[in-house]
Amino acid sequence: MQNQATEWYPPPETAAEEWVARVAAGSAVVIFSKSTCSMCHAVKVLFYGMGVNPRVYEVDEDPRSEEIERALSSSTGTAVPVVFIGGKFVGSMDRVITFHINGTLVPLLKNAGALWL
Ligand SMILES: *[C@@H]1O[C@H](CO)[C@@H](O)[C@H](O)[C@H]1NC(C)=O
Repeated sequence: MQNQATEWYPPPETAAEEWVARVAAGSAVVIFSKSTCSMCHAVKVLFYGMGVNPRVYEVDEDPRSEEIERALSSSTGTAVPVVFIGGKFVGSMDRVITFHINGTLVPLLKNAGALWL
C-alpha cells in the first residue's frame, strides 16, 4: 500500500484548521489516518478493494501531528479515521460502512469522480 502523504506537510505559516480544510477538499477521497490505527487500515483496505485510490494523510507522520489532530477533531468531532468524499465530511469507519450497506457509498464515489464503473 503506497503512502502518498509523507511529503504533504503544512507550511509553517498555515493554520492547522486551514490545512485540514485544504487537504479535505483537495482530493476526491481523503482519509485522515494514523499509521498505528487498525480501523484506519481497514477503511483504506475497503477503498482500495473498491478500486478507489484515496489520498491518505497520516497525521502521526506530520511534525505538527498534535496540532493537526486537534484541528481535525474540533472541525469534525471525530477521531481517525476521518473520511471525506468529494470534499464533504462523511465520518469514521462506521459511517462509511453504513453508506456502503445502504447503497449510497458507490454513487457518492462516482459523483466525486473517484469511481467510474
Ligand atoms: C445511508 O446512510 C447514511 C449514513 O447514515 C445516511 O446519511 C443516508 O441518508 C442513508 N441513505 C439512505 C438512502 O438510506
